[in-house]
Amino acid sequence: MPFQLPPELAQQPTPFYYYDLLLLDHTLAALTAAARPGNFQVHYALKANSNLPILQRIRQAGLGADCVSGGEVQRALEAGFAPDHVVFAGVGKSDAEINRALAADIFCFNAESVPELRVLNELAAAQGRTARVALRINPNVDAHTHAYITTGLEANKFGISLQDLAGVIDSLDSLAHVELIGLHAHIGSQITNLTVFAELSRKLNELQIWLEGRGHRLPHLNVGGGLGIDYHAPDEHPVPDFAAYFGTFEQHLHRRPGQQVHVELGRAVVAQCGTLVSRVLYVKESQQVRFAILDAGMTELIRPALYGSHHHIQNLSSQGKLLPYDVVGPICESSDTFAKGVLLPETRRGDLVALRSAGAYGEVMASGYNLREKAEAVYR
Ligand code: LLP
Repeated sequence: MPFQLPPELAQQPTPFYYYDLLLLDHTLAALTAAARPGNFQVHYALKANSNLPILQRIRQAGLGADCVSGGEVQRALEAGFAPDHVVFAGVGKSDAEINRALAADIFCFNAESVPELRVLNELAAAQGRTARVALRINPNVDAHTHAYITTGLEANKFGISLQDLAGVIDSLDSLAHVELIGLHAHIGSQITNLTVFAELSRKLNELQIWLEGRGHRLPHLNVGGGLGIDYHAPDEHPVPDFAAYFGTFEQHLHRRPGQQVHVELGRAVVAQCGTLVSRVLYVKESQQVRFAILDAGMTELIRPALYGSHHHIQNLSSQGKLLPYDVVGPICESSDTFAKGVLLPETRRGDLVALRSAGAYGEVMASGYNLREKAEAVYR
């Protein structure tokens, strides 16, 4: 179905984030239906969008929460996620964040280094607890996505490199307040070529055999998140192909009897249900370029400026003849550009413009640069 803004929102002050909760529900239904046959455990990555109305629906659909800060752990608990459905990942967890998560008795910490394991052990001991831990390994698998969101290569700061793993496992013997329950890997985000997940599965299979040889049988395998969405045709592909995604792991990951496989999807769950709605402030034409200057900018959606990402742009007010525009924001940075040379129906001051697929890594990455006010979120 082509995108339509609910008519009453045409009067809403711009810019604002519009979330289509019906599409979120459809997405969650498709996700849980695809995860069920293989009994995959899905933890939603809050970093993609942490608005309470969205989190509550995600929790009601039965997903857990994947958090990367104390603030996200707190938000997940506020949204009603049970502590034993909360995992805490991140390459730089502070003592205060770890203490809060320990006190809440969350399900698992995804740990990334020996120094972190030592701190987890010390802080857990002080609270008279044991920290359940999955080791985040760096599998050295190229996700073939944007360099800034590639995480599973040795050059990236994330995870424990395979060469160091034996030493890390040995160090666990002396850490009485840390219990190893799983392996974790996350190789990147906006992954559209599923063969990289097959490659990740093969690496994890080898590691499992190696670990079993050392006497470790782990109840949990966490393969991370990263499933991409169609930014170019959001109306044709509003819901990602979850069946193909889980099918890849079903086919390639050798799961032991009773072993649980976890995934932590963010973008694939929430990207398509969100739209940044903006108004055209000015159309400025020079001999070379025709600019459509919006009242939304990189402060509301930084992805094009930061990664050169594509978001589908639609003029919701005009049916005029198509003309090329550079669509830009009002921020004092040349990188505050949403698209160059995009064809839009003839555009005028006051027209409403939709920047699509903004539900993930849109509002959460908003900033107050230029003392901009925070744009509102509306839900329908
Ligand atoms: N698990 C870990 C350990 C992660 O680092 C991430 C994302 C996820 C799960 C969720 O990945 P997803 O399913 O959403 O791809 N700001 C960037 C994306 C950064 C992703 C960071 N990590 C963007 O706008 O494209």
